[in-house]
Amino acid sequence: MTIQRFLKFYALLLLISGCGEPRTDLLPVNLRCDFRQNPLGIDDVSPRLTWILQGEGRSRRQIAYQIQVASTQAQLDKDVIDLWDSGKIFTDESANIRYAGASLGSGVMCFWKVRIWDESDQVSEWSKVNHWSVGLLQETDWVAQWIGFDEAWNDRGIEVKPWANQIEKAKQYKPLPSPHLRKEFEVVHEVKSAKVYVTALGVFELYINGQRVGDDYFTPGWTDYGKRVDYNTYEVSALLKKGKNVIAAILADGWYAGNMADRGQYWYGEKLRLKAQMIMEDEAGNRDTIRTDDTWKASYGPIREADLQGGETYDARLEMNGWNQVDYDDKSWSGVEISDSFSVKLGGYPGVPIRKTEEIKPKHIFEISSGKYIVDMGQNFAGWAKIQVNGNPGDSIVMRFAEKLNSDSTLHTRNLRSARCTDTYILKGGGPETWEPRFTYHGYQFIEVSGFPEKLTSENITGIVVHSDLPRTGWFECSDALINRIYSNQLWSQRSNYFDVPTDCPQRDERMGWTGDAQIFMKTAAYNMDVSAFYNKWLVDVVDGQRNGMFPSTAPRVYNRIAAGWGDAGVICPWTFFQAYNDSSILREYYPSMKLWMDYLESKSVNHLSGIGSYGDWQNVKSETPIELITTAYYKHVSDLMAKIATVLDYKPDAQHYNSLSMKIKDAFIQKFVDVATDNTQTADLLALSFDLLPDTLIDSYRARLRNDIWNHDTTLTTGIHGTKFLMPVLGEYDLGLAYQLLNNTKFPSWGHHIENGATTIWERWDSYSDTSGFHKDSTNSLNHYAYGSVGEWFYSTIAGIESDGSGYKHIIIRPQPGGGLTWANAAYNSIRGPIKSSWRIDEGKYHLNISIPANTDATVYIPTSNANSVVESGRLIIDSPDISVISEESGRIVLKVGSGDYSFQSDL
Ligand code: BGC
Repeated sequence: MTIQRFLKFYALLLLISGCGEPRTDLLPVNLRCDFRQNPLGIDDVSPRLTWILQGEGRSRRQIAYQIQVASTQAQLDKDVIDLWDSGKIFTDESANIRYAGASLGSGVMCFWKVRIWDESDQVSEWSKVNHWSVGLLQETDWVAQWIGFDEAWNDRGIEVKPWANQIEKAKQYKPLPSPHLRKEFEVVHEVKSAKVYVTALGVFELYINGQRVGDDYFTPGWTDYGKRVDYNTYEVSALLKKGKNVIAAILADGWYAGNMADRGQYWYGEKLRLKAQMIMEDEAGNRDTIRTDDTWKASYGPIREADLQGGETYDARLEMNGWNQVDYDDKSWSGVEISDSFSVKLGGYPGVPIRKTEEIKPKHIFEISSGKYIVDMGQNFAGWAKIQVNGNPGDSIVMRFAEKLNSDSTLHTRNLRSARCTDTYILKGGGPETWEPRFTYHGYQFIEVSGFPEKLTSENITGIVVHSDLPRTGWFECSDALINRIYSNQLWSQRSNYFDVPTDCPQRDERMGWTGDAQIFMKTAAYNMDVSAFYNKWLVDVVDGQRNGMFPSTAPRVYNRIAAGWGDAGVICPWTFFQAYNDSSILREYYPSMKLWMDYLESKSVNHLSGIGSYGDWQNVKSETPIELITTAYYKHVSDLMAKIATVLDYKPDAQHYNSLSMKIKDAFIQKFVDVATDNTQTADLLALSFDLLPDTLIDSYRARLRNDIWNHDTTLTTGIHGTKFLMPVLGEYDLGLAYQLLNNTKFPSWGHHIENGATTIWERWDSYSDTSGFHKDSTNSLNHYAYGSVGEWFYSTIAGIESDGSGYKHIIIRPQPGGGLTWANAAYNSIRGPIKSSWRIDEGKYHLNISIPANTDATVYIPTSNANSVVESGRLIIDSPDISVISEESGRIVLKVGSGDYSFQSDL
């Protein structure tokens, strides 16, 4: 071989192996598949793959990526890429890249990694390997049967009247014990992998050899059971052993058969069922399947009652030691019931598991009467309580839960309506006993404990916070304690109400996925937490609830009333999703349903005024906005969004149609509702200003009128949930001082008024409670209702100034707007492209702004200053910085464009 030929050969080798290329320090991290890390059992056969880039320096970019997917980790490590090698794809996109490899069948494992090329075309290291697995895609993949145990049901002896009124239903309520199911089986060869696919009509807890499978609760979650039931998938090989094994489960009512809102028991169905199949594979590739069938045994155990709203009753004397382990004597157990006729679509659970996320110790415990204690957790939240106790067999501890106390220190339970919210534990005796429920939850701050056999101290009782365990993405703090408390309250209300679906409240007999509340709070929610997988699941519920084009007011659909501002969530939520996560496939997937909704709205409209009803500006005070104004305003708003959505999807004729529809609605609105000469409500003006419903010439007059109306109401708001959402964003555009003033208010009605009266969450009504007037007379009075918490988005977007231009944070806007006497604010937001930070402080006439912009994004930064020449970054004049360009100098501020990286600005105010 000549030297030239050798060099050529060597160069070729380097090229093939890639190791000769210079490496960049950028690294793809935080890999996600369909918005989750390493999901198992997904239905999506071309899932969305996403990563963020980690690395030092400024103006860092990705110019290309390569994804490799193999069916085993070993193959991926050895470069045997049997599923997909994307090759080098030139794009700066790093979010929602659809898998486009070999077609994926049921149960396939997919191991994947990604590398990128940076702005200098230097390749990165491969990312860590992540994985996903495909669920059971075909109905025929399911060989398991629906099994259950109906003895108690059969003996129930009560006529079920689902349409009885609330009081009758509460009387009718008859709790049944939870079925326990088990089956022993033999494992012949060492198991290499084992996946269990499991679902229930009701909720389940699954065990293998005595160990709980997974750490999620209320599985398989809440869906429209008539249309679909989700199943969960777990990898369980670590729980199995050669020889004898046992698989076991407990069933409880959950949403399926438990008290459902004010509809009573058995809304979806009556008899609890489990369906599970475990597919085990050994090293040689032999497969064995264990499934629910008539070989299982059933019994009742210590759980005498387990109702989502009513509570749980546990008699520890009835525990069956070792029931979920091998060699338990189940001779006295019964056979199981089989429901072969029940058929429904089964879907791989796409959402976010409900988990225990925090423990809270009591702030205060006192004895209200002999042996009856009140425990104050200091915080309103959703979950339950864990107790530790010593006592005698048969001692019975009763815990009742409530959000607040009456003036005589008894529990305030009127606002729970028919939800009993009571847990009972009956001791077995003989040593310390620890107990907590698992099939019920309560929205509470206070517990009344009676029957506790010893003196109750904080050692004995712990609050367990339970909710959908969404990854936290947003943090905010500023120099004002009241604003920080409002921030904390809305965060707690999200934590308490994101419970597999976005519920309205966690305490009373409602707890439903009200679509209006959900759309109003969604942008705030998406700052606080990563709601992508959560909404990816819930949007299915919304569409499942659609009938003849009509999106429901609650999803899963329970109520039949159709309402503007509620049903419109079917358009608003996918759009909000797209803006936060830049996933156009969500828009494409739901577009046909959105169009049906629009067709319905058009068919009902009269001369382009909306013809559908609404719940109005729910929970407004001192003012009443006409329903028809609200419904027509929303009609215009969703037409605008449809035009934008059709543009994103490149459906040009539709975009034209919705644009022209929007203009016609606007004309009709102007003719019917626009009149500066008459009085209006704050909400009417806010909707008109927010939804582009005014001639340009009247915008200033409307702004002035809104300000006057606020002044005329003693400088307070009068808005319900629809107006409140737009209050800060609209005022912030032209009267920042007034916006801050409303935020800082402590007089009625305001967030501050709630806080002065003890709120640790957002309340349903501005007048829910005050120390002077007591509780609102209506029992529909939740103290944990996130809708007014929609103010949270303003904290991130305006006080701290972190916004996206609608591109899912590919292009970021940093525009803090100091005011209200604040001297500093700090916020961080983990966007789908990586972490963004914005911190500002004002001191001695100087403005300081520190920001972080993630790699592969850029930002427009607004710096307030009276002197453009005073603006420096890390001590250097901005014109000297290669990473910063000046876009414009406007009165009082300078606008800059920066690439990724950390920046530290300073300016003279
Ligand atoms: C819910 C609200 C909901 C409303 C509809 C209430 O009971 O709690 O949040 O939007 O009904 O008007």
